[in-house]
Amino acid sequence: MKIFLTGGTGFIGRPLTQRLLERGWEVIALVRNPESNESKEIKSLGAHLIQGNVTNKESMRAGMQGADVVIHNAGWYEFGICKQDHEKMFRINVEGTQNTLDLAVELRIPRIIHTSSILAYGRTGDIVVDESYVRQFPPLTYYEETKMKAHEIATSLQKQGAPIIITCPAGVIGPGDHSATGYLVRMYVRHCLPPILWTPNGKLAHVYVDDAAEGIARCVEYGKIGEVYLLSNGNQTHREMSEDCKKSDGGCKKTWFWLPNSIAFFLNRVAEPIERLLGFPIVFCKEFILTAKDNWQFSAAKAERELHMQFRRLEQAWCDTIEGERILAKKKKESKLKQ
Ligand SMILES: NC(=O)c1ccc[n+]([C@@H]2O[C@H](COP(=O)([O-])OP(=O)(O)OC[C@H]3O[C@@H](n4cnc5c(N)ncnc54)[C@H](OP(=O)(O)O)[C@@H]3O)[C@@H](O)[C@H]2O)c1
Repeated sequence: MKIFLTGGTGFIGRPLTQRLLERGWEVIALVRNPESNESKEIKSLGAHLIQGNVTNKESMRAGMQGADVVIHNAGWYEFGICKQDHEKMFRINVEGTQNTLDLAVELRIPRIIHTSSILAYGRTGDIVVDESYVRQFPPLTYYEETKMKAHEIATSLQKQGAPIIITCPAGVIGPGDHSATGYLVRMYVRHCLPPILWTPNGKLAHVYVDDAAEGIARCVEYGKIGEVYLLSNGNQTHREMSEDCKKSDGGCKKTWFWLPNSIAFFLNRVAEPIERLLGFPIVFCKEFILTAKDNWQFSAAKAERELHMQFRRLEQAWCDTIEGERILAKKKKESKLKQ
């Protein structure tokens, strides 16, 4: 089986590449920079690299030609990007999806998998929803808007008969996560997360990175064309999440109190321009807090049934995340000492 994969160098993409190769499949990975550490990592696993960009349809043609499966997993996931970067995110997440899926249809690829997101469905309020949920609320962030539009492109092609399967991972967690959640986990592990937290009652679905990768790989094996599969380890409030993290060794065990949403919102709004000014990664920002205070509750029962997925429990997912992050921190410290 020959798989053409976009986004193979990313947080989800690297374990996904590994899982595809472990199944004995050939992986042609589209990469923007073949010399990056991540590209070299997947090459060393056995992936064949093709240089290109999802914003340039023709750059994917030769690599995609003759593939049995296309997995479109590339995207730009970030909250709090500045207005000037909106166009770039649109080109990657929306036009990149259109280019990749259109080309796959044009080349008559028999199975096409698109990595969407639970955010494509929007907030869910007090209910836990499944794949049939119809969006009730407008997007809160620019990233959410682009994933919604990319999802619409994929569903519209499905309706026209294209052999597309859509996967929607929940918020992905795991060691090495470069999103705002990943930074907070690293602050927790390094004992520098303040003992004052926020949005205790916001409920969110999370999925461990290896489970997300396995779910996408299983879409190749078991996914039904025309369907959507939510990938999630479960739903929990931020308060429950914090309690789960504290069950692992190390990290900040104390939470003095939970900030009211209005104060948390104000502090994040103040922090955002300061982070930008100092050139820090944007962790505390308006878009992150807007997302965190709401509910995003999704059921992965269909993926369990049809993809035969066995998702780890959320408690285990957090334990694996904290433990993995501790190992990464230790390795970083050791390599610094060696230098
Ligand atoms: N992380 C989450 O919580 C989450 C949840 C649900 C859905 N998703 C979706 O899952 C997918 C992967 O996310 P991730 O968290 O693994 O993100 P990531 O770590 O930032 O990886 C993004 C991947 O996309 C590639 N990429 C970005 N722009 C590209 C372009 N213009 N042309 C070709 N490749 C490009 C990157 O390649 P380079 O090596 O060139 O940078 C990288 O391999 C995305 O579609 C994202 O929206 C993520």
